[in-house]
Amino acid sequence: MAFPTQRPRRLRANEKIRCLVQKTTVEVGDFVYPLFVAHGRGLKKPIESLPGVYNLSIDTLLEEAAEIVELGIPGVILFGLPAYKDEMGSEAYDDEGIVQQAVRVLKQHFPDLLVITDVCLCEYTSHGHCGVVEEGRILNDPTLELLARTALSHARAGADIVAPSDMMDGRVAAIRQALDDAGFQDVAIMSYTVKYASAFYGPFREAADSVPKFGDRRSYQMDPPNAREAFREVILDIEEGADIIMIKPALAYLDIIRQVRERFPYPIAAYNVSGEYATVKAAALRGWIDERRVVLEILTGIKRAGADIILTYHAKDVARWLRDG
Ligand code: PBG
Repeated sequence: MAFPTQRPRRLRANEKIRCLVQKTTVEVGDFVYPLFVAHGRGLKKPIESLPGVYNLSIDTLLEEAAEIVELGIPGVILFGLPAYKDEMGSEAYDDEGIVQQAVRVLKQHFPDLLVITDVCLCEYTSHGHCGVVEEGRILNDPTLELLARTALSHARAGADIVAPSDMMDGRVAAIRQALDDAGFQDVAIMSYTVKYASAFYGPFREAADSVPKFGDRRSYQMDPPNAREAFREVILDIEEGADIIMIKPALAYLDIIRQVRERFPYPIAAYNVSGEYATVKAAALRGWIDERRVVLEILTGIKRAGADIILTYHAKDVARWLRDG
């Protein structure tokens, strides 16, 4: 009679043995939580397509930060909603801009919280593009100076890490140079290195009011079918001085995370983006899926693919689930 000679089920028999052989764990220390900060007072405006996420003013941001710190989440990434938008996105590099104010206040109240700033122009420009626009084209080189000024202004406010998300060529070098020249050698760069032109950013653009007024972002963000191009971007960003490589979105690009992990000895951050969050939330709110198990399974998948850091809107929920067992 035929019988199995190999029995993998022995190692699945109970929680203890499963725990011993479990290879990938998701921990609160892996997370960065995105925050949207706006001018005003007492603001806590729900973002419809991101249930549980809000536009916050500085005072309500502090309350939120207290909760984040209490949950043990190590870092936040800040996105700003400016008071005004113009062609050149000038609030982005204004020392009194909303992100700069938020960074100063956060570092003052929570010096140990890692404060990361998104460095981009799209939330600040009247046309909604991530760079300087001339005759309908997004110009690369004139944008670099504005991005460098933005990063420097964030560093002056006290940011620990700056995260350029614009996808202009050469921006990591421009930012590194500007930071070093001003004595900010210790401010790290987490570069949105491999950022695809994805439909999964939809809810974010509602939250950050950053929908491009004409065209789309395909002349600067990467084309979803391409993988080799991702490695080229990684090589360039490393040469230019990036400390952490980000891949974004996460779920449709797990193969990219895995391959970058195998090829490059650098920390990888994966951005579990707004549309990925919204999709899960929508199904969970209808009771169609078990939110907790689905979220943990997704985040485990992102880590198993090779990410060290996960930027995710689920961070607070997961921190609570992990804490409460
Ligand atoms: C700004 C930026 C975007 C996201 C992060 N930084 C939007 C975009 O490129 O249009 C998306 C984050 C998310 O969807 O959660 N350039």
